[in-house]
Amino acid sequence: MSDPFTYYKARARELVLQMTLEEKALLLSGNGSWTTHKVERLGIPSIYMTDGPHGLRKALGPSMADSVPATCFPTASALGSTWNTQLMEQVGAALARECQANDVQLLLGPGINMKRSPLGGRNFEYFSEDPVLTGHLAAAYIQGVQGEGVGTSLKHFAVNNQEFERMVSNSNLDERTLREIYLPAFELAITQAQPWSVMCAYNKVNGVYASENPLLLEQILREEWGFEGFVVSDWGAVHDRVRGVLAGLNLEMPGSGEVNRKKIIEAVNAGRLPMSRLDEVVASLLAVVLKAAESRKPQARVDLDQHHALARQVAGESIILLKNEDHLLPLDVGAKKKLALIGAFAKEPRYQGAGSSQVNPSRISNAHDELLELLGGSERIGYASGYDTEGVTTPSLLEEAQRLARDSDVAIVFAGLPDSHESEGFDRSSLDIPEGHHRLIDTVTQAQPNTVVVLMNGSAITMPWVGRVKALLEGWLTGQAGGGAIADILTGRVNPSAKLAETFPQRLEDTPTATEFPGLNQETYYGEGVFIGYRYYDKKDITPLFPFGFGLSYTTFAYSELSLGSPSIKDTDGLTVRVKVKNTGKVAGKEIVQLYVREDRPVVSRPEKELKAFTKVALDPGEEKTVSFTLKPRDFAYYDTARRRWSVTPGRFDILVGGSSRELPLRQHVQVETAEVAVPALTRHSMVKEFKNHPKGKAFYSRLTHIITGDAFTKQNPVKLTPQEERARKKAEMSTMVFVNDMPVYKLVAFSEGKFTDQMLDDILAQVQ
Ligand code: BGC
Repeated sequence: MSDPFTYYKARARELVLQMTLEEKALLLSGNGSWTTHKVERLGIPSIYMTDGPHGLRKALGPSMADSVPATCFPTASALGSTWNTQLMEQVGAALARECQANDVQLLLGPGINMKRSPLGGRNFEYFSEDPVLTGHLAAAYIQGVQGEGVGTSLKHFAVNNQEFERMVSNSNLDERTLREIYLPAFELAITQAQPWSVMCAYNKVNGVYASENPLLLEQILREEWGFEGFVVSDWGAVHDRVRGVLAGLNLEMPGSGEVNRKKIIEAVNAGRLPMSRLDEVVASLLAVVLKAAESRKPQARVDLDQHHALARQVAGESIILLKNEDHLLPLDVGAKKKLALIGAFAKEPRYQGAGSSQVNPSRISNAHDELLELLGGSERIGYASGYDTEGVTTPSLLEEAQRLARDSDVAIVFAGLPDSHESEGFDRSSLDIPEGHHRLIDTVTQAQPNTVVVLMNGSAITMPWVGRVKALLEGWLTGQAGGGAIADILTGRVNPSAKLAETFPQRLEDTPTATEFPGLNQETYYGEGVFIGYRYYDKKDITPLFPFGFGLSYTTFAYSELSLGSPSIKDTDGLTVRVKVKNTGKVAGKEIVQLYVREDRPVVSRPEKELKAFTKVALDPGEEKTVSFTLKPRDFAYYDTARRRWSVTPGRFDILVGGSSRELPLRQHVQVETAEVAVPALTRHSMVKEFKNHPKGKAFYSRLTHIITGDAFTKQNPVKLTPQEERARKKAEMSTMVFVNDMPVYKLVAFSEGKFTDQMLDDILAQVQ
């Protein structure tokens, strides 16, 4: 991607030449909570930034409780379930138009951390447990926002996966896990969409705060991925400001007044912070500030009706049909049918999460009123609240709900997580919804066999009652237009087309982090490694409640004719994959086609399969389309920690295609050859067995093993052995060989009591380099 700041960087560099040390330090810390400092003397403007990510939250006064009315879109777990990058771009563009109309230059989102545990407090603000899905959705969102001249801030970089002790917690993980799970979504979004800023996380990563981490902020972000924007601290994430500048943290937010400004000035004066480094960090911030200020559209106006309609469309694409026995949905809404709407969420929906992302919605729709409007006839639609705002029920509320359910043709129970259960700032302690919701569903199903449950929650939950309900919709936190969208789905005006972007486990004990989540006492150990989400359930062969990628439709789809561009490729080539998808039902629908890659014989412990590509395709009844994907070499690679780069092991890879991670009817394989064969260097610490497979080392292998075994196994024994003796001899040979093979070669010197000398070893090593 070309550098969007080239012109502004040149201007920024000129300005930096004219700035005093004080002015430079001033610019690097915010002016209060949401703006950067101006430098009037040089005509440097200030810019305004605010949350994000699913709506604009611009404070009207000093308190965040009062913010401008804005369109509240579904939160990220809902957006993730659309698997629709085009829609994501439209959401981004709408958000940016609201920013422009409110004089906001930078939106603090999207949030793209991985859902390591379903208990993560901010899961509702993140897209998925999969980096590829997340990265593509984030890139589209960024392109949408930035296409309208407003910047984004990709957050929270990096490995920020729990809320507990979030300002200090240390995420301990191995390099492969970092590279394969926690970084790729950032990498994809940055290389494809070049966000104007990246927000560094509160936490430490392997002992170093993200806000002062040169590996993350300089080496990976800028050098490896070519990030051109600025890094802003999460609000209050700065610890040692000078270390931050040295590592590449441009902007401290919120501003710290003189506190950190002074430290920067002192460090420069004392020679601890080179002026050249300070200049670089100031210039890259300034370039974005200049661009953002010049991208202002002071005349911009927003059509909130249009945005509400878009929010309804998006919510409709994010609601997942998880179960639909006897085709109970869409509802048969014949004139005589009576519907029971049960549960307070039907009238007072839970539609967004709490914390910094909380939007003041321009309006709110609820499913009750929307269904009344669509179906007409209030006598057909009954309502019972069933529980209070905390999800607590009473015998009389249950009785009322049961009576209504019995007197109706279909009961629709609205359940999920109340506000107090899910928020930024803390993790959930259980996967359960409130006891009152469970009891309500039980009570209703006893009276009404045709029961639908509509869920409102931001992250995975358990469902002990799932076998007793006929239909189930995961509504997520649907945003302000969710009521209309739920009505659209229930009545069939919209055909569900969303799929899970995160696994729903049967129980907490089945989850990848069941032994400890969140990490306690400021330390979190990512012991499950690369096995999060479906990667874990696949590996352990655990059947989840609903798998990653799963979701039903009112129609059906059939897959056929999976074909690969070539039966074998080099690890430097791409691979084209084609597949046919047909709508085999009676109504138009959209299918999310998923492609996973599986390595047949990996040399490191790899997931059973990994999502590498997906697309959403609209099909009329009977229509068939060919979908094509192009896989890149990286799609076959693992992160090779010895060589510190992505590597492909030559061999067979399976290409699996279908409509869910657990339903992949088509499979083909490709042979991948490596152009350059990886030959690990042999050293004194290499094991004897490493010589056996090494192109030059193999010439010395038997000489090395012979040092330990002597002639014992090669000389013919003059005495004929009994079969029993022969077995014992073979056994001894085998354990001796295992012993020798796993021994580092330098040990041969001591074991041979010096007959094999250090000099001899060095001579061999010189010949195998
Ligand atoms: C959150 C960020 C948010 C920032 C500004 C922080 O506490 O972690 O996601 O953008 O506040 O509100």
